[in-house]
Amino acid sequence: MCGIVGYVGARNVPSVLLGSLWRLEYRGYDSSGIAVISNSELIVRKVPGKLSELEELIKRKPVSGELGIGHTRWATHGVPQENNTHPLLDCNEEVALVVNGIIENYLTLKDELEAKGHIFRSLTDSEVIVHLIEQNISKGLTEAVRLTVKKLTGNFAFAAIRIGENKEIVCARHDAPLICCYNAEEAAVASDTSGVVSIFDEVIDIPNDSIVILGRGTCSILNFQGRETKTTPRKVMIEVKDIDKGHFPTFMLKEIYEQPKVLHNIVKERTSDSQIQLGAELSLSEAELKKISRILIQACGTSWHAGLIGKYIIEKFARIHTEVDISSEFRYRDAVLDNDTLVMAISQSGETADTIAGLREAKVKFLKVLSVVNVLQSSIHRESDGIIEIMAGPEIGVASTKAYTAEIVNLYFLALYLGRLRGFVSKTQLKEHFAALMEMPDQVEQILRLDNDIKDIAKEFCNSRDFLFLGRGLNYATALEGALKLKEISYINATGYAAGEMKHGPIALIDDKMPVVCVNPRSSVYDKMLNNIQEVVARKGIPISIVTKGDQRTRGASKYAISIPACHECISPILSVIPLQLLAHHIAALKGLDVDRPRNLAKSVTVE
Ligand code: F6R
Repeated sequence: MCGIVGYVGARNVPSVLLGSLWRLEYRGYDSSGIAVISNSELIVRKVPGKLSELEELIKRKPVSGELGIGHTRWATHGVPQENNTHPLLDCNEEVALVVNGIIENYLTLKDELEAKGHIFRSLTDSEVIVHLIEQNISKGLTEAVRLTVKKLTGNFAFAAIRIGENKEIVCARHDAPLICCYNAEEAAVASDTSGVVSIFDEVIDIPNDSIVILGRGTCSILNFQGRETKTTPRKVMIEVKDIDKGHFPTFMLKEIYEQPKVLHNIVKERTSDSQIQLGAELSLSEAELKKISRILIQACGTSWHAGLIGKYIIEKFARIHTEVDISSEFRYRDAVLDNDTLVMAISQSGETADTIAGLREAKVKFLKVLSVVNVLQSSIHRESDGIIEIMAGPEIGVASTKAYTAEIVNLYFLALYLGRLRGFVSKTQLKEHFAALMEMPDQVEQILRLDNDIKDIAKEFCNSRDFLFLGRGLNYATALEGALKLKEISYINATGYAAGEMKHGPIALIDDKMPVVCVNPRSSVYDKMLNNIQEVVARKGIPISIVTKGDQRTRGASKYAISIPACHECISPILSVIPLQLLAHHIAALKGLDVDRPRNLAKSVTVE
């Protein structure tokens, strides 16, 4: 969480910092600030609230300078108010600091620093860093940073500037993402590539446990022992237009509408030469994959829902026993993992702290980790033995949409691949699956054409207090995902449940005011689900059903029905979730909420 940026060069420093912060705002948006050095003055502008308020403040009280740092915050320690907003300053107001991460030993450090006379102005854990730097500042900013990182436990990435060292930004990273870039005249640092995309076309992925010193056209990277580290820049693969809303009112809606194209590209890539192509970075040999007797998938949130679908299809196509764990549970539960277990991580951002910890848990036990990841060069990418790239493109909206369906389709290809290897999927069956998958992006397009009908349903229910989402089999995960989408952006209490389990408790919630979203496309559990819908009707609940085109039985039992095209059962979770994404979006928009920046959330959950 939190986005950090820094820039040194001839451009207008505050506007470069603001531009970068806008593109990193998805990482956190409860407060923001910048610090610039101009001659021998350190100037800070910071404000609790949205980034637009910082922009306003800078318009009212302009600043200029030779270099600067900026921050957009997702609060962990200390409520969003001015004293807790970064940049944070040392006692002498000589050093300014922006931090992303968590300092786990901050209370001990704070006690020690206070005993030495340091005055803390914030309740943040990060503030200890700037006072530790201050302790050794007589040795210069770089050396002070080097001595500071040795004292910190937790995960962090930070950037610091100091009056008197007006030409350099000094940064450090340990287990939190940070990239930098430079050319002949300027240099920048940011939490991720999107922060620098408009200026640089090459970036350096700063190695873990490094200190970076950036100047106008210079960049040196040292390890924590102070030795120079060699790095190779990589091309920036995204363009400004990829992270722009275009004509859409929200990133979420844009990303929902991007799904046909994203899914088409994945299917094309993964089926080229009529073979399953999982990509060059799978890095696990056929022999290694054949040996697997069990798969353990661990992920969080929406990616965990994709994992639930992964379990069904891997077990169905490849007959490999598959378990799915929430990463924050997996990492602490001392799971039984034997040599033939393949551990998988699924993550859009590749930076989710609990998922990284789960991956490390597996590595400690010398197990292979295969990750399904969207952001290349993220921590999960770098720490896995092999990856399957999600290929969803940058996802900015906090509520994940296109990454979810892209995760499912990649897991589908993995399941087919393993099924072929183990002899459970014949050539003819593979052909049939390919045909069904090729048809799927167009089917998604057809569902998007129902947007206005879905908006009408949203109008009807945008003032409901509660929602229930029910599904069975593969679409149990769809029910969970539909409920998560709705609650996270509309703040309506929404519960996702396995429909067969409803009578063991949640049925008590149903009355004549309760909208119940019932996901019931044609499937092996169709009749069972229809019975559950009847149970809802019998309690005067209001069923809003997702049905296969032409299905009159579920439609007849429901107050509202949204049709999806007929498809293979294993494709139905991809199609069924599209109306639920739109429903959640429209309800939140009708309630006048900030769809892309839901309260208390951030796109990349880099804290435990
Ligand atoms: C919900 C959502 C989150 C993420 C979760 C894991 O819309 O986006 O639940 O899915 O925080 O994130 P990644 O996939 O980046 O590990």
